[in-house]
Amino acid sequence: MTQITIALTKGRILQETLPLLARAGIEPLEDLSTSRKLVFDTTRANVRLIILRGSDVPTYVQFGAADIGVSGKDMLLEHQGDGYYEPLDLGIARCKLMTAVPVGTTQQPSRLRVATKYTNVARQFYAQQGRQADLIKLYGAMELAPILDLAHEIVDIVDTGNTLRANGLEPREEIADISSRLIVNKAAMKTKFTDIQSIVDALKEAVEGNR
Ligand code: PRP
Repeated sequence: MTQITIALTKGRILQETLPLLARAGIEPLEDLSTSRKLVFDTTRANVRLIILRGSDVPTYVQFGAADIGVSGKDMLLEHQGDGYYEPLDLGIARCKLMTAVPVGTTQQPSRLRVATKYTNVARQFYAQQGRQADLIKLYGAMELAPILDLAHEIVDIVDTGNTLRANGLEPREEIADISSRLIVNKAAMKTKFTDIQSIVDALKEAVEGNR
């Protein structure tokens, strides 16, 4: 039997992925939330799940260490890798990638400082607009950067907008609509076609049932 490894993004995306997988007949044999393990067998004997940080999912799938991945579109835009297909929008963990500034900001300096963990996406965005931007790479708590004058604005994920509001910021320009996507390693799609296609089809049905 062909072994299939599915890489999942831990956190909020994981909570929304598990019901879809369950509907596709794939359920972990252990409770993911109480275990410290990173690899889980499932109700499908040939399918195992691995739990990763979101930014690592495209890397595992690109190199074929995982056959399939569930990744936020933000991570895919930032990763800019190849080696995988993106056959399905799972329609979960929807949000927007946006710029945000201190509330009421009307003018920005001609040479902007922008704090973000999405430096590749931000570089492209500001270049397309012909704006000069010095990017400052952060790994979290981007909202602090304008408050402490580290940056004039940030590029980050906005869902409810509560985090921005709580820190005196407001969203400005929309860069991309985000949701979680299924990605499949290109070589595995050929060598394990039947098994992978059956999982993609089952998930497609599960997603349609969600609508
Ligand atoms: C994201 C993002 C914001 C927040 C936005 O962080 O970085 O901080 O969610 O959501 P809101 O608009 O509903 O307030 P997340 O909680 O995913 O953690 P992270 O910083 O580890 O990505």
